[in-house]
Amino acid sequence: MELKRIVLGVTGGVAAYKAAELARLMVKDGLDVQVVMTEAARHFVGAATFQAITGHPVFTDLWDERVDNGMAHIDLTRGADAILVAPASADFLARLAQGSASDLLSTLCLARDCPLLLAPAMNRQMWEAPATRRNAAQLEADGVTLLGPDCGEQACGEVGFGRMLEPDDLLDSLAARFQPKRLTGLKVLVTAGPTFEPIDAVRGISNTSSGKMGYAVARAALEAGAEVTLVTGPTCLTPPRDARTLRVTSAQDMLSKVEEAADHHDIFISVAAVADYYVLNRSEQKIKKDAHILTLELAPNPDILANISSRPKPPFCVGFAAESENVEEYAELKRRRKHLPLIVANDVTEAVGADEVQLVLLDEAGKHVLEKADKHIQARRLIAHIAQLYNTRYQ
Ligand code: C5P
Repeated sequence: MELKRIVLGVTGGVAAYKAAELARLMVKDGLDVQVVMTEAARHFVGAATFQAITGHPVFTDLWDERVDNGMAHIDLTRGADAILVAPASADFLARLAQGSASDLLSTLCLARDCPLLLAPAMNRQMWEAPATRRNAAQLEADGVTLLGPDCGEQACGEVGFGRMLEPDDLLDSLAARFQPKRLTGLKVLVTAGPTFEPIDAVRGISNTSSGKMGYAVARAALEAGAEVTLVTGPTCLTPPRDARTLRVTSAQDMLSKVEEAADHHDIFISVAAVADYYVLNRSEQKIKKDAHILTLELAPNPDILANISSRPKPPFCVGFAAESENVEEYAELKRRRKHLPLIVANDVTEAVGADEVQLVLLDEAGKHVLEKADKHIQARRLIAHIAQLYNTRYQ
């Protein structure tokens, strides 16, 4: 089932300010978000913030006259695919575990016919208290999903369990629940980002790859139920929480990690923008400035993807081809040269660093255009295509 409409419940806790960022990410992901706040939440963050982000009025009161038939407790979840309460306070967990319907949000949770997910956030002693343990266990037994909490620094200055998961992790967990599990039981290896080829102790050659596409592919594979290893060059992005992430710098580093991992992965998706050359006359120390011309000698890097795809028993290999002209023609040549069942072509002048891209998938059957969309959406479409090809080939 596709996730389209969500009720975001916000209860009283310092983490309520992060719910605004969560709402923003949800809207960006194409979700229709209806926010319902408890009275206590309004002490931490204003309803106007959520209203501006979601484009919908925010509700708190069971007796709100803005709902036509006076049935806010039913109307607001009608057609919703899920309710996510983030943050969910200790008091809210207690009320839910008791089946209390003392305000609009708890009543909506009780009267729902869609999944309920809670992101607990509270002081670590409150989370560890026997009553909260009991309530959390009861809620799970009742079929409610708890996302987190995480361990870390808390608003009160203490460190421990009770911290709300970060908004992007919450959205990942939510989205994952609604994606078809096309890759369950499979291991997927993804490379992402640029590589950095050192010139000396502090300088190097790299490129403008942001890593966004590779990280989105890793996320989409996780959502589809795969076990994911992400080998990433230097980027500013946070890797998906559930991926095994290996950080590398140069192409040579990336090659050795990929070579080690490839044997026990079923699918290899090579998204990284690997530098074509490395510096042969690299200096261990910082090169001193002088008036002379400095000549760098560049030698070709190994082709990581070709190296893996030419093995006697390769995983199912998928390449990316960033081209600036004759995109499809050059990509298809590359696909054949590297013996790939699938290559993903994009126009490098539009794709690098952007959030939205158009992709063309080239395989034995021909070409499939994925019309311009956010990289996360394109990554899900790509994973669906890979799963279909993989299943036809091996099952
Ligand atoms: O030949 P080209 O660099 O355009 O091929 C792009 C594809 O090959 C991408 O999938 C990229 O991740 C991969 N590649 C690689 N190692 C290299 C160069 C490219 O794995 N040294």
